[in-house]
Amino acid sequence: MSFPKPNIAAVLETAKAQVTVKERPIPTPGSHELLVLNHAIAANPVEWRIQDFDFLVTKYPNVLGSDVCGTIVAIGDGVTRFKVGDRVTGFAAVIYNSDIDHGAWQTYTLLRDIGTTKIPDSMSFEEGSVFPMGFATAAMALLQNLGIPRPPGPLPADMKDTALLVWAASSSVGCSGIQIAKALGLPVYAVCSKKNHAYVKSLGATETFDYHDPDVVSKIVDIAKKNGVSITKAFDTISEHGSFQLVADVLVRGGKGGALATVLEWPATDPKPEGIDISMTYALRTGTDLPEFGAWLFNDWLADALEKKIVVPAPKIQIVGGGIGAAQKVYDMLRPGVSATKLVVKV
Ligand SMILES: NC(=O)c1ccc[n+]([C@@H]2O[C@H](COP(=O)([O-])OP(=O)(O)OC[C@H]3O[C@@H](n4cnc5c(N)ncnc54)[C@H](OP(=O)(O)O)[C@@H]3O)[C@@H](O)[C@H]2O)c1
Repeated sequence: MSFPKPNIAAVLETAKAQVTVKERPIPTPGSHELLVLNHAIAANPVEWRIQDFDFLVTKYPNVLGSDVCGTIVAIGDGVTRFKVGDRVTGFAAVIYNSDIDHGAWQTYTLLRDIGTTKIPDSMSFEEGSVFPMGFATAAMALLQNLGIPRPPGPLPADMKDTALLVWAASSSVGCSGIQIAKALGLPVYAVCSKKNHAYVKSLGATETFDYHDPDVVSKIVDIAKKNGVSITKAFDTISEHGSFQLVADVLVRGGKGGALATVLEWPATDPKPEGIDISMTYALRTGTDLPEFGAWLFNDWLADALEKKIVVPAPKIQIVGGGIGAAQKVYDMLRPGVSATKLVVKV
C-alpha cells in the first residue's frame, strides 16, 4: 500500500529524554485497529508528566500523546464501524499499551476501534482533536466513579435535587464534565478563575465560583442551600494545590456525604474525610477493563453528541506552529499550566 507522506514522529528515545524528531516506519493496523493519517494532535498534561517522571509508558523508544484527529487510511480485521476515508478523532492507546505505534505525536497513529469517534463534516480536524482524553476522563469520573447514569439519562428520582460540583471547571477535563452533565440536565456548580466564568457558563455551568476566593467553600454551600439543591457528587479535575480538601469540605458541609472523583491520587499523608466516597478516575480504563463503556462513549454517544452539537469543542483551541516538530515546545508550554486552553498542532 502506498501512503501520501512519510511517518515523521516525535520520539522519546529513553526515559526522561527530550523529544527527537525522526522518521519511523508506517504501522500496519492489526485486529480491530485503524491507521489514521493525523491532521491535528492535541496535547495533555500527562505527556510532560511522563517525560519528567517516567511512568505509565514502559518501553523506549516511544511516542507519547493520546489525542489525534485525521483520516483513516487503512483498517485491520474485524473493524465494522469505520472505513478508509472516514474523518475521525481517537484516544491513542500508548499510555496503557506502551506500543509506539499507538502514540499520537507522529504522522500516522494506530487507533483501536473502541477508542475512535467519527466527527461531523462541518468540524475541523483541530476542533475534533480536543475530545478523546478530556471526555474519557470526565465520562469515567461521572458515569463510573460517581454512579451518574449515562446520558441522555433520565436521572434517578434520588438525584432530582442534586447538583454536580466541578472543580477546575475551565480545564480540558472540567469542560468535558460540564458538557456531559448538561446533556443529562444535571446542574453544574463550576469552580475556576473569574475570567473563565462566562466561558464555563456558555458550556452549561449553572453557578460559578472562584477558587481564589478564601470563602469559596462557604459560598458554594450557601448558594446550594438557597437554590434548594444538594451537592453530593463532586469532580476535582485538578487534584492539586489543596483542591482535594476544599472539594471534600463542600460535601462534608452539605451534610449529606456523597462521592468525590479525583484525577490524581489523594495524598497519602492527608486523612480522608469520613462519609465521603473518594476514588480516582482513570481515562485509560475505557480501553482496558471497561471496553464496552469505551465503545459506547467513543463510537456511539460522543459521535452522536458531536453530530447534534450537544457537545462542542472545548476548552478554547490555541494552535502552536511547527507541527510534530513542536512536540517538545508544547510539553514545555503545558508544564507551567494553561488557562481554559487546549494546545493543538496541525500536522
Ligand atoms: N486520571 C486520569 O485518567 C487523568 C486523565 C486526564 C487528565 N488527568 C489529569 O487531570 C488534570 C487536568 O487535566 P486537563 O488536561 O484538564 O488540564 P488543563 O486543561 O491543562 O488544566 C488547566 C486548568 O487548570 C485550572 N487550575 C489551575 N490551578 C488550579 C487551582 N489551584 N484550582 C483550580 N483550578 C486550577 C486552570 O483554571 P483557571 O485558568 O480558570 O484558573 C486551568 O483552566 C491534570 O493533572 C492531568 O494530568 C488525569
